[in-house]
Amino acid sequence: MNSNSNEYNILLLPGDGIGVEVVPEAVRVMQSVAELCNFTLKYDEALVGGCAIDATGEPLPPETLELARKSDAVLLGAVGGPQWESLPMAQRPEKGLLGLRSELKLFANLRPALTFPALAQSSSLKLELVSGLDLLIIRELTGGIYFGEPRGVEENNGIRRGVNSYVYNEHEIRRIARVAFDMARKRNGRLCSVDKANVLEVTQLWRDVVIEVHAEYSDVSLSHMYVDNAGMQLVREPKQFDVIVTGNMFGDILSDVAAMLTGSLGMLPSASLNENNQGMYEPVHGSAPDIAGQGLANPLATILSVAMMCRYSLEQPQAADLIEQAVQATLDEGLRTSDIFTEGSIQVGTRDMTDSVLKNVLEIHGNGSGVRTNVS
Ligand code: IPM
Ligand code: MG
Repeated sequence: MNSNSNEYNILLLPGDGIGVEVVPEAVRVMQSVAELCNFTLKYDEALVGGCAIDATGEPLPPETLELARKSDAVLLGAVGGPQWESLPMAQRPEKGLLGLRSELKLFANLRPALTFPALAQSSSLKLELVSGLDLLIIRELTGGIYFGEPRGVEENNGIRRGVNSYVYNEHEIRRIARVAFDMARKRNGRLCSVDKANVLEVTQLWRDVVIEVHAEYSDVSLSHMYVDNAGMQLVREPKQFDVIVTGNMFGDILSDVAAMLTGSLGMLPSASLNENNQGMYEPVHGSAPDIAGQGLANPLATILSVAMMCRYSLEQPQAADLIEQAVQATLDEGLRTSDIFTEGSIQVGTRDMTDSVLKNVLEIHGNGSGVRTNVS
């Protein structure tokens, strides 16, 4: 890794479905901000998910993992599709994703849910509940029931029994709690830890350890909520939250709920970080096989994932700001892909949406450095 120089190795993993459409578009934006902000990106590309199964028989080929380990950051599109759904669990495309998370030790998954003013009407919730929403879900990503042992389905005396194990040790809880307190400190200073401590012992430990870590962060206010209540509160009054920290499975579920509050899954980026701030960045949406190959996919979640990459793994915050402002400007101009289209806006495809972001990147950068541009 080259974290001390201005040159970074980026591994591109477009994956399946619309992943192969949105990743190249996001790369155009990444390349543009790198040139404007004076850093150098070197790219590799590899297979993961269904395309890797088709080419090599496995969802995470060793070459892909090797390149991922050597990279400063990974940009992933999406994995999966109906053609691979009947494969045994261990060979499914999702295993590629889970393997990368666990092999790179990407334990901290940041999933912001931010309502863009231009899109607040697209939410299924009332405008006043979601306008100005800005919450961050921090999901533990390499432990819990997703990875706990024992696991599997066994048959005894003709009766099948399925087992998964919800396991956390205190180190795993402590390190994700620290990430969450650090993030809350940089935002509005409020952290809500979500568990099911009234029923599950493992989450009683979760709660106890989060309370212990709180002693190091007396400036952050900490609350606790059971996961069923948290699901309800997210749709009742989402703006009560600043940062939510929770385990792997609860985070999976709550982050989809939070995503929908913002109006579209097509808008949300995510970051998965390890202890060295090496990260994998991916849109929260899936491979969308129904619209794949038609140039219709919304590239903004992937473009915003590049912004998160610039902020967290490349330490280029000005590049991150530039991308986020350009996305905002593009939405303000009324451009919409079909997933966020509303009456009166301008419907565009993947490429035109990105062209507009690129145009706005140049314009905002030009304005910021005192060179006025007039593109319109
Ligand atoms: C997510 C996805 C994955 C998960 C799947 C595709 C394995 O739902 O990133 O939220 O469950 O973690
Ligand atoms: Mg999910």
